[in-house]
Amino acid sequence: MASQKIKCPNCNAIMTIEGNPGDQISLTCSQCKRKGIVTLPKKPLLHSSDAGVPAITVQNLTKSYEKVRAVDTVNFSVKKGEIFGFLGPNGAGKTTTIKSILGLINPDNGMIELDGKNINSKGFHAHKDVGYLPEKAEFYDNLTALQNLEFYADLKKIPRNVCPKLLQEFNIADAANKKVKAFSKGMKQRLGLARAVLGHPSIIILDEPSGGLDPRGVKLVRDHILSLKEHGSTVLVSSHILSEIQEVSDRVGIINRGKIVAVDKIENLSHTLDLKPKLIIELDKLTPEIKEAVKTISAADRISARGNTLEIVCPANVKVTIINTIAEAGGNILNIRTEEPDLEDVFMRYTEE
Ligand SMILES: Nc1ncnc2c1ncn2[C@@H]1O[C@H](COP(=O)(O)OP(=O)(O)O)[C@@H](O)[C@H]1O
Ligand SMILES: [Mg+2]
Repeated sequence: MASQKIKCPNCNAIMTIEGNPGDQISLTCSQCKRKGIVTLPKKPLLHSSDAGVPAITVQNLTKSYEKVRAVDTVNFSVKKGEIFGFLGPNGAGKTTTIKSILGLINPDNGMIELDGKNINSKGFHAHKDVGYLPEKAEFYDNLTALQNLEFYADLKKIPRNVCPKLLQEFNIADAANKKVKAFSKGMKQRLGLARAVLGHPSIIILDEPSGGLDPRGVKLVRDHILSLKEHGSTVLVSSHILSEIQEVSDRVGIINRGKIVAVDKIENLSHTLDLKPKLIIELDKLTPEIKEAVKTISAADRISARGNTLEIVCPANVKVTIINTIAEAGGNILNIRTEEPDLEDVFMRYTEE
């Protein structure tokens, strides 16, 4: 028995249905009373017995381009239903790894399995249930957003009527009938995300999904990744910006200069790597009372003061506590900035040790 959350195509109400894989279930929407038939996926949604079973396995992956060893003996696996953040600075080898997993480039060496199917021997069958957002999403420029999405729905043999709803979910419904050539990078990125999740693939691979998006777009991506997890999908999401993926990832793999540096839960990695952001708070007057008050916050790691500016290395979620503490100590905050750790620098130090 598996359960699945579905959205009513008419009124967007969310309902939970239960049944066995492949079952056809008749139901009536609890809100708008629309009747419909839903087929549960052939593959079961995540069962407790699936926990820990790998959905993506990468073994000894190596790929060189002339003088550059883009990916060097990379090993990691992503478990079923897991959100795996693939993190590394620009040029680290993320896209090369992802394209190898998708069979878009031929690695020099290595073995890749998707849901237990070797991509070399199973070819198309291994990639049939995989959604992909490339780093630079490309479309048919002379077609509209809706026509593009319908084209891919046809290819995947999915009813076209899911497309307008998907455009709505990704906040580009207003541009549904605009040709993609008039789209900004952010709009293309949203359309690319809609294409990646079309048909609820069991494995979804997103290569830098937040690239080109404004903060609202970044939040939309984050929320969608979490909802994909609720649907039981496995998500591999790459980024060169830690804060974009640390909140959504169950585990992260860090790659630097073609080599995997670490694979672990983010909280475990924070102990070994200096992954915390730095909060830079400008005050109109920095008093000894404020400094003392901030020092009592145990999660605030390193505190330094320069003029009327406080610099505090701390986990991102401690920000509000710090702001409140400063206000309670009589501080008047003029400006707050967050500085992300320089990943290249952090990883180089880590690999040197
Ligand atoms: N088609 C290519 N030809 C030559 N070098 C490439 C090619 N693709 C990637 N590289 C090189 O491989 C390394 C890894 O690149 P990439 O996988 O794109 O990194 P990331 O996605 O982490 O930014 C870089 O040094 C890049 O310049
Ligand atoms: Mg890349």
